[in-house]
Amino acid sequence: MTAPSTAQSCANIAFIKYWGRRDHALRLPLNGSISMNLDGATTTTTVIFDPALDEDRVIILDAGTTAQAAHRVSAHLDRVRALAGITTRARVVSRNSFPMGTGIASSASAFAALTVAACAAANLTLDERALSILARLGSGSACRSIPAGFVEWHAGEDSETSYAETIAPPEHWDLRDLIAIVQTAHKDVGSTTGQALVDSSPFSEARLAAAERGLAVVRNAIRACDFETFGEETEQEALRMHAVALTSQPSVLYWSPETVRIMQAIRAWRAEGVRAYFTIDAGANVHVLCPGADVDALAKRLRELKGVRDVLANRPGPATRLIDAHLV
Ligand code: DP6
Repeated sequence: MTAPSTAQSCANIAFIKYWGRRDHALRLPLNGSISMNLDGATTTTTVIFDPALDEDRVIILDAGTTAQAAHRVSAHLDRVRALAGITTRARVVSRNSFPMGTGIASSASAFAALTVAACAAANLTLDERALSILARLGSGSACRSIPAGFVEWHAGEDSETSYAETIAPPEHWDLRDLIAIVQTAHKDVGSTTGQALVDSSPFSEARLAAAERGLAVVRNAIRACDFETFGEETEQEALRMHAVALTSQPSVLYWSPETVRIMQAIRAWRAEGVRAYFTIDAGANVHVLCPGADVDALAKRLRELKGVRDVLANRPGPATRLIDAHLV
């Protein structure tokens, strides 16, 4: 039995979204994307390769392990085993610091942590780029949780050139992401399913062209710490992604009445001079972006809104890293 290896990874929030793929098996995206790691939303995963096992044993603490999740983990371990030249089955134990299936990208931190822990347990030494590529094969957005801080995933030409790297380290900009939780149950349509429907929307091409332009806008705004330019483009991109989801066949509506209430509140507050913009992933929760100086006042306002169950505050987070606190 190998010694346990444990990795901790941050979820990330995309400002320019990954929504649609040109190769589903390799998870090659239609467009590049930009995100920030979320220091308060982490997955911790321990992997042990154990020759006594005849199949992988996967335990997701608190949330419970579905057969589908265990299968996806096993398929990812197969990629690590193939690279390491081993066939040994593994014990995997994982824990999230946030509720699963709520639009906080649990698959991103899950597959980034699994990639780093499994490679270490298999004595496989890969550089950050190779880890990002490997994580991408498990879940697209996971490639962005490998590097630190503000991150860009290059769409690339092929699998070897489709990876994420840091645009700016966490300390570059005191941007905050407040996640207004309105739903803690599993979403009905997972992002993997939603992603597969993109081509059926008549708006898919228009959104793609706008996202390509948005990449440069958001990248430059992050570099310049230009909050207004960054926020305007990020909010527009979220609406473009959801316009595609809404007009896919079948249509996917991720918003609840509470989601829309928060969107309207943010715009009303902005008209009063509050510095805040929203973005939304494949779920009903709303990510509210603001400068560090405004975080307490904004969190208070959000908590007072009807239907907001909790507000999770995040700073730009670190890279996925190995830690000593094993879960088994
Ligand atoms: C809305 O990475 O979950 O969060 O590759 O099928 O695992 P799979 O998709 P996933 O999609 C993330 C979608 C998103 C936008 C984003 O994070 O860029």
